[in-house]
Amino acid sequence: MERTCDRLSLERLRRHLTTEVVGHHVYIFDTVDSTNHVLAGLADRGAAEGTVVLAEAQTAGRGRHGASWFSPEGANLYVSVLFRPRLAPRELPLFAPIASLALAETIWLEGAPARIKWPNDVVVRGRKLGGVLVEAPVIGGRVVHVILGIGVNLNVQPAEMAAALGPAAAEAAVSLREALGHELDRNVFAAALLGRLEKWHHTFVSRGPEAVRVAWQARDALRGHRIEAHVGDDVCVGRGRGIDLDGSLVVEDDRGQARHVVAGAVRMLDAPELDD
Ligand code: BTN
Repeated sequence: MERTCDRLSLERLRRHLTTEVVGHHVYIFDTVDSTNHVLAGLADRGAAEGTVVLAEAQTAGRGRHGASWFSPEGANLYVSVLFRPRLAPRELPLFAPIASLALAETIWLEGAPARIKWPNDVVVRGRKLGGVLVEAPVIGGRVVHVILGIGVNLNVQPAEMAAALGPAAAEAAVSLREALGHELDRNVFAAALLGRLEKWHHTFVSRGPEAVRVAWQARDALRGHRIEAHVGDDVCVGRGRGIDLDGSLVVEDDRGQARHVVAGAVRMLDAPELDD
């Protein structure tokens, strides 16, 4: 499909980048299997904290739970960022939200009412605009590094999504171009996103996970809504009550009891379009 938008370029990205650590080293590729995979290789060879990998297209873009991530060429943003925090594995669920927070803020500043659907989906009026894949190898009880892989539907056309994903999946997704009614400059958007990511990384390191949790909850798409969480064979229905300090989703069931969902799929049962 023909694109009118700019190619990703180091020069154009740097023109807008205001960060010190995130994006100090940037690699831009035409096509890779997965930016997370490429960055994992660089991390194993000693890449520095803040190293960024971007690609115009992915042939094997990865989503959560083994799903694939639709990654057409030249339309969207596929970016992975390396961090080397001193974390125990149990602390990861509150480190990863720095990525969804940064993404939601960047989209919000572009003018679309972005919210975060637990754990790290970014939605606009209930439709998914972006997501985060966290990959963090653990050796000897310590997290070796964290790769935050962010995929954002920026300029992809609805017809292209429908053709690739099918009508139902395409209806559940949205691009920022569709939400705003104009095309996005991907270099400008990437620079802004990396800036917000550096900011939230700094907040996590200097003020701790509680500061991240408070900000995340202010953008929580599920808070106060009636939701259904599938945890293995169990189904938990109730109202979203934010996240706990271990990153679990808190659901208040119909008897008023707080249930903690550590992993699983969540569905909103009441009108998502009222969520702005
Ligand atoms: C999700 O399922 O919501 C997470 C999607 C994450 C996709 C991004 S695109 C850049 C990075 N590379 C990958 O292979 N996946 C992530």
